[in-house]
Amino acid sequence: MAGIASPIGVFDSGVGGISVLAALERTLPMEDFVYFGDTLHAPYGTKPEAEVLGYVREVMSHLMVRDVKAVVIACNTATSVAAARLREELTLPIIGMEPALKPAAEHRRGGAILVLATPMTLRLPKFQALYARYGEGAEPLPCPGLMDLVEQEDFAQAESYLQKLLQPYDLRQVDAVVLGCTHYVFLRPVLRRLLPDNTLILDGNAGTARQLARVLSKRKLLREAGAGSITLETSGSADAVLPQMRRLLALARTLETGEASFLPQTL
Ligand code: DGL
Repeated sequence: MAGIASPIGVFDSGVGGISVLAALERTLPMEDFVYFGDTLHAPYGTKPEAEVLGYVREVMSHLMVRDVKAVVIACNTATSVAAARLREELTLPIIGMEPALKPAAEHRRGGAILVLATPMTLRLPKFQALYARYGEGAEPLPCPGLMDLVEQEDFAQAESYLQKLLQPYDLRQVDAVVLGCTHYVFLRPVLRRLLPDNTLILDGNAGTARQLARVLSKRKLLREAGAGSITLETSGSADAVLPQMRRLLALARTLETGEASFLPQTL
C-alpha cells in the first residue's frame, strides 16, 4: 500500500517528460521519482487514440508495481487520451498536463498566440474545450515529427523544422508560443533564437509541479525530510536510452534556470 515514503511515478512516450521531471525535482527535492519513458511505443501523438490508451495502461501497471503514491503524466498527448479515464478507475492522484494556453491568454497583448503540440493533443476534446475558453487569437499548430527530432537529439533539424513552421507568421505580432508537448521544452534555446526577445515561450512544467505539490499536501503524502532520488526506466533499449535520459536531465536542469525569466509569475 503506497504511503508518504513511496515514490512518485512520472511517464511520457519517451524523453520529453524528462523536462517535466526537472521541474518536479526542483519543486519537490525530498521526493523519490520513478521516471518511465515508453520509448518502444513512441511517438504517441501520431497514433490512433485506442492504441495510445493501451500503452498508457501498460505503463500505469508497471508504475503501480513500483508502489507509487501518485502519477504525473508528463505528456500532453497521454493526458488528453487517458487522464480522465484513469482518474475514474484509480484512487491514487493522477496529475496531467495541458498546453499553457490560459497563461498565454492572460499575457496576450493583442497579438497572436501559437500553440505547438502533437496532432492528437490538438484534435482531442480536452484541448478543444481549453481553446473554446482561452483560444482568442490563438492558432493551433500540429507538429508531427518534431518529437522524433528531440528523441534523436537532432536540434539542427528541429531548428529547420521550426523555421519552416514559423515562416508564414510575422513574428513581431506573436505574443506567445505555447509548448504543448513536453518534448518541445528542449527546443527552448532554438526557439529563443528564432523569436523576438519579447515573445513569451510558455510551457506547463512549473504549473504541473505546483499542482503535484498541492495534491500531495492535501492528501498528506508530501515528504518533509530526506534527500530525494530519481530512477530512470525505459521500455526501449536500456543501454541506449538510459545514458540519453541522464544527458537530457542534465540539460533540462540548465534550461529551467536559463529560461525562468521568460515564465510569467502566474504560471
Ligand atoms: N511528449 C509528448 C507530449 O507532451 C508526446 C509526444 C509523442 O509521443 O508524440 O505530447
